[in-house]
Amino acid sequence: MASFDIQPLDRFAGKSAAIRRPKEITYFSYDDEHKFRLDASSLRYYYPPRLGANLSAGFDTFKKLDDSTDDHLDSLLKSIMEMEKQEGNLCRADFITWRGMMTKIMTAPFDNFSKFEMNATYFQGTIFIEECHEAKAADQERQRRQKPRPGAPSQDMMSYWGYKFETLCLIPDIWDAVSRDYIENRENEIVNNHSQYCSVVKTGMGTASLVIGGEVDAVWDCKPADKDRPINWVELKTSEDPQSDTDLLKFERKLLKFWAQSFLLGVPKIIVGFRTKDGILRRLEELETQKLPGTVKRAGKGSWDGNLCINFTASFLNFLKDTIKTDGIWRISRRERSRTVEVFKVEQSGHGRILTQEFVDWRQQQ
Ligand code: A3P
Ligand code: MG
Ligand code: MG
Repeated sequence: MASFDIQPLDRFAGKSAAIRRPKEITYFSYDDEHKFRLDASSLRYYYPPRLGANLSAGFDTFKKLDDSTDDHLDSLLKSIMEMEKQEGNLCRADFITWRGMMTKIMTAPFDNFSKFEMNATYFQGTIFIEECHEAKAADQERQRRQKPRPGAPSQDMMSYWGYKFETLCLIPDIWDAVSRDYIENRENEIVNNHSQYCSVVKTGMGTASLVIGGEVDAVWDCKPADKDRPINWVELKTSEDPQSDTDLLKFERKLLKFWAQSFLLGVPKIIVGFRTKDGILRRLEELETQKLPGTVKRAGKGSWDGNLCINFTASFLNFLKDTIKTDGIWRISRRERSRTVEVFKVEQSGHGRILTQEFVDWRQQQ
């Protein structure tokens, strides 16, 4: 077994390791039934919502995605494979994974309560990392069994608020191509979280190159025709409007996740919908992803340090590169409050279900 110390953090302080601006290399969509599509059909556009909207409205008609099945890296691998077929060359990177895995790693230094279990395998020079679905499912079940405080909204309701906010903020095309009627009637739309647009980007941290896939909520204007231009992505978030000093600290800790998640895919803007305790949308704030670490350090409570997260991640990725050098299935595990991340082999050979047969066959023919 190999282990990597998170603490002490001062090892990662100072100037930030080299980072490469994430660049979209391909994309895919899930439609309203969550069926995979190799296109941008689920791309959505931002148009400000009406303040005062009730985020609980329509909870009983929510078309909620069943996330109990394990999707592994299937869609990501499919989109990469199709890109390779089209372009005629192979997508080389030290790591291929979902954005969610990278967010967990990046925020680990400042989130003592975070825990994660991931599976990894090595194939043709790349480390593929997926979420360990069993561990996640067990954890979600534990959370579901926790009863909310009397009078407090349920976990399910609070999660609905996030999706309702998205529905209130999104339109299916650039604003002048969408009817006034549609924009004004978004509050009556049935909330459905089956559809997603996923961006697949190439990026780099320190000496590691990565291909990361993740959902982006919306584009501010439209995707530029020139593929080399950055895309004005928008990340939508809801949060309770902080009222006290304790609330402000809680919000600042949440900003760490917002920042890491957006930074990884190169999303420049985060729009926060502040709500009351019982889910009424009160105000909006636009945050610039790039400026968040500086703001937290200078004007906030300094509860996290973005540079340190980048340096930590760069050196953790190097550790993984030194450790995961053969096939088989490796477990990457951080337990709650643990000061170390442990990496050990759970299956001696093969790639388990991390890779699809289709992807392995394709690559082996090349
Ligand atoms: P909020 O983040 O506004 O609460 P994302 O912001 O990543 O695009 O996710 C959209 C919404 O999905 C979230 O909105 C939240 O409502 C819901 N969501 C995401 N992760 C969740 C989780 N682990 N548990 C419950 N709901 C979650
Ligand atoms: Mg989202
Ligand atoms: Mg969002």
